[in-house]
Amino acid sequence: KPNELGLVAVGFSGGQCKPGTEAAPMALIESGLVDQLKDDLKYSIYYDGKVHAYGELMPDDDPDYRNMKKPRAVSAVTKQLSSQVYEHARDGRFVLTLGGDHSIAIGTISGTAKAIRERLGRDMAVIWVDAHADINTPETSDSGNIHGMPVSFLTGLAKESEDKPFGWLKDDQRISVSKLVYIGLRDVDRGEKKILRDHGIKAFSMHDVDRHGIGRVVDMALGWIGRDTPIHLSFDVDALDPMWAPSTGTPVRGGLTLREGDFIAECVHETGNLVALDLVEVNPSLEEHGAPETVRAGCSIVRCALGDTLL
Ligand code: ARG
Ligand code: MN
Ligand code: MN
Ligand code: MN
Repeated sequence: KPNELGLVAVGFSGGQCKPGTEAAPMALIESGLVDQLKDDLKYSIYYDGKVHAYGELMPDDDPDYRNMKKPRAVSAVTKQLSSQVYEHARDGRFVLTLGGDHSIAIGTISGTAKAIRERLGRDMAVIWVDAHADINTPETSDSGNIHGMPVSFLTGLAKESEDKPFGWLKDDQRISVSKLVYIGLRDVDRGEKKILRDHGIKAFSMHDVDRHGIGRVVDMALGWIGRDTPIHLSFDVDALDPMWAPSTGTPVRGGLTLREGDFIAECVHETGNLVALDLVEVNPSLEEHGAPETVRAGCSIVRCALGDTLL
């Protein structure tokens, strides 16, 4: 069902400390994104019509655990999101998730990974476009913010026992470090660099983009993943330079141009293997003037990943 699209709007910002990302899904939708996907790109959209805040899942008391901030809240939200995404993907739909901060990828990727295994008997690849690697373990993280840790839980580098936060994650919901590729990195913590090195994880930093150009970088990234491998694209808007996406919680200068971001999305779409997309870390409340352009940049990335073309 290549034209069926499941949309999940996640108004959650508990994976980091700055309020505001919970308002991003509504800002993206209000700027016309869903209508464009429907009318211009001809998707039939499956959307429950709400921005999920998961208030009913919030614990009264959520003290730090293993250096993680709000561990129970993030665990409960991502667990619920995982089954929402799973249900769309199991039914053969493309899954678009609008965040929210990047901790929500624990939910989205675990959901698609499981569904793709069941449906296609295949291991899914992940392309993580970001200024950051988000692969801290609770122990290597300086901030304790879980949006800096999702990849470590998804790959099993960080694990928890059944009864603890993120103990719900099972092997069939995880991805292999060998099927993970980064593009856009430029602010990677020391402990993360060691993890990337020790596990031979494929990463294209901004240095690589400068050296080879975005065209070759994308070719190399897709070559690493291999043909006919289902792909989940997790796009953090802070991969873009603050010139195009200033309204985000952890901006880092020296990033991708909007065209380079769109180009990555276009190329991943062209593979025909894209099964899901996350667009995260838009925070409309941080930059009074930069918010609308950041929302526009996010919409543009989503449209490109879903098949919009320049000609
Ligand atoms: N590496 C830093 C940390 O662990 C920043 C992570 C930023 N992550 C993001 N999804 N914007 O806190
Ligand atoms: Mn829903
Ligand atoms: Mn980031
Ligand atoms: Mn991120």
